[in-house]
Amino acid sequence: MHSGLTRIDVNELKEGMVLGENLYDSLGNILLGDGIILKKSYIVKIRTLNISKIWIKENIITKEIKEAQHNDPYLFETRLEAKKFMKDAMQGFYLNGTIIEKVLEIVNKLIEELLESDEIVISLGKLRTIDDYTLEHSVNVCIMSLILGLSYGFKYEELMDLGVGAILHDIGKMLIPQEILNKPGALTIEEYEIVKNHTTYGYEILKKSEEISDIAAEVALCHHERLDGNGYPLGKKSEQIRIYSRIVAICDVYDALTSNRVYKKGIAPHKALEYICKMVNTQFDNELVKRLLNCVKIYPVGSVVKLNTNELGLVVDISKANPSKPIVRILLDEKGNKVINYLEVDTNRNLGIQITNVFPKFEGRLSFT
Ligand SMILES: [Fe+2]
Repeated sequence: MHSGLTRIDVNELKEGMVLGENLYDSLGNILLGDGIILKKSYIVKIRTLNISKIWIKENIITKEIKEAQHNDPYLFETRLEAKKFMKDAMQGFYLNGTIIEKVLEIVNKLIEELLESDEIVISLGKLRTIDDYTLEHSVNVCIMSLILGLSYGFKYEELMDLGVGAILHDIGKMLIPQEILNKPGALTIEEYEIVKNHTTYGYEILKKSEEISDIAAEVALCHHERLDGNGYPLGKKSEQIRIYSRIVAICDVYDALTSNRVYKKGIAPHKALEYICKMVNTQFDNELVKRLLNCVKIYPVGSVVKLNTNELGLVVDISKANPSKPIVRILLDEKGNKVINYLEVDTNRNLGIQITNVFPKFEGRLSFT
């Protein structure tokens, strides 16, 4: 028995795992050395070697990381319930009394759970399935919006308006033909004009319901409006767009960028944030972007990151005050050598040290004994 190692099937290899043995080619030359962190290209190569199982190091996965992974995804049960409900609502073509009651109940539950949680940051560990996009998206945008609303100190009624508006922001898409919504590739100008109508359709649907506030209905209307007036449907500018719609707009863009769709792979969370930062003062206001950066857990505990020093490390802790600057345990030095001494870098305190790349978290299959 190799201590600290686990033997896994080559088909189960994931980027970021650490090799626990030397691998040789057919001539006996070392191909990949013990301790190397697997990249996608290495995994492809390993699978050509005609071996079925290899040793992987497990000792760099700590108990805390294992627990952090098990806590994902965030608000799991309520998410499931919310998704199931949204499916019914989206198939309904109108919002009847029961559905509205349920929207209010679910948003209320999400708010309560967020208030009870000691970790109000947006977890990015959640993987989604492609065909679930609209449902997953509505729920994600709702949770993210509520977290941002909490950061603004919104009162309960304000959070309810925000959450209801957020979960139903795209409800007007029920009236847009599926073949246009799911079309791979670019839309024609005519198709794009049709898609834009989901804002006014959503507003009209929600306005019919007495239980849904004007503010929530306005979110459906204005979540594609932009600070510089280049949004739609009304071309409203800065303060003309209420904070509720501005919050949902930024969450909508963030979630859309990071989501996998049939025709595109989602981009990494830190890249999505970079994109959003570039849109400050044109699409989104500065204050809101700052708050988003503070709320998003870009580097979940357990993710492997590359530093500008060329070192590679494992995220072991995140400060609530500044989630984008985690504590990193160095695994490989700048030359790619294993770091045996226990060395942790607090990127929040060492301002010269920056994260240049992030790899997904280790997932399953490793044993944590
Ligand atoms: Fe939309």
